[in-house]
Amino acid sequence: MSLLKVENLHSYYGKAEILRNVNIVVEEGEAVAVLGPNGAGKTTLLKSICGLVETRGKIWFDGKDISRLKPHERIKLGIAISPEGRRLFSDMTVEDNLLIAANSDKLEFVYDLFPNLRQKKGQLAKNLSGGEQQMVAIARALMLEPKLLLLDEPSMGLAPIIVETIAEAIEKARKELNLSILLVEQNTQMAFDVADRAYIIANGEVVKEGEIESIEEIERDYFR
Ligand SMILES: Nc1ncnc2c1ncn2[C@@H]1O[C@H](COP(=O)(O)OP(=O)(O)OP(=O)(O)O)[C@@H](O)[C@H]1O
Ligand SMILES: [Mg+2]
Repeated sequence: MSLLKVENLHSYYGKAEILRNVNIVVEEGEAVAVLGPNGAGKTTLLKSICGLVETRGKIWFDGKDISRLKPHERIKLGIAISPEGRRLFSDMTVEDNLLIAANSDKLEFVYDLFPNLRQKKGQLAKNLSGGEQQMVAIARALMLEPKLLLLDEPSMGLAPIIVETIAEAIEKARKELNLSILLVEQNTQMAFDVADRAYIIANGEVVKEGEIESIEEIERDYFR
């Protein structure tokens, strides 16, 4: 049984159909990337999984049909997201951002994962670097101890060295929490660092899927 199975998914904003017949699977313990250009529908896919978009089709999680569940019910089952643009509370401290939806049990775990954040736990989120803000967004999702972590363009706007640091932390969290990951990216480096398998979407449809190594070759045709 797959941890996540997105089956014949169609997603809509009003009458506009954004995703068409999308099929995506994440096995337990697997890290899967979804790659695609601006406007392909990557964020819409993650929002659909979280219950934030109108959909047709089925979304299975842990053997359960979650397609009609409310967002908070999906979170409770073990789905957490680090959203596009990080969405931190900019006038709150790092630590208060981390505690927003969780209790303090996991604080030490995320501080061990991102030692920078331990040093800056009293600092306001708006005064952090872009890389640190991204770390807070991921750490905040991990505080919920999810089974499935959804990451929306975690490498956006970050220098390659920071992307690598974050990729390593994700890898570590994956091992220690037995996490499964669905990672959306436009920049492929993070995907190649983290994912086992990838899908490419364009214009709201899956156009390719395969092992990450095979995607690395295909990717040149789509992104160069
Ligand atoms: N709230 C909304 N209302 C109407 N249309 C929307 C809304 N959000 C996104 N769209 C449209 O849906 C399509 C897919 O957008 P989406 O944000 O999912 O793309 P994306 O692949 O995440 O792009 P990017 O790489 O730029 O983040 C786009 O054409 C976009 O204009
Ligand atoms: Mg997006």
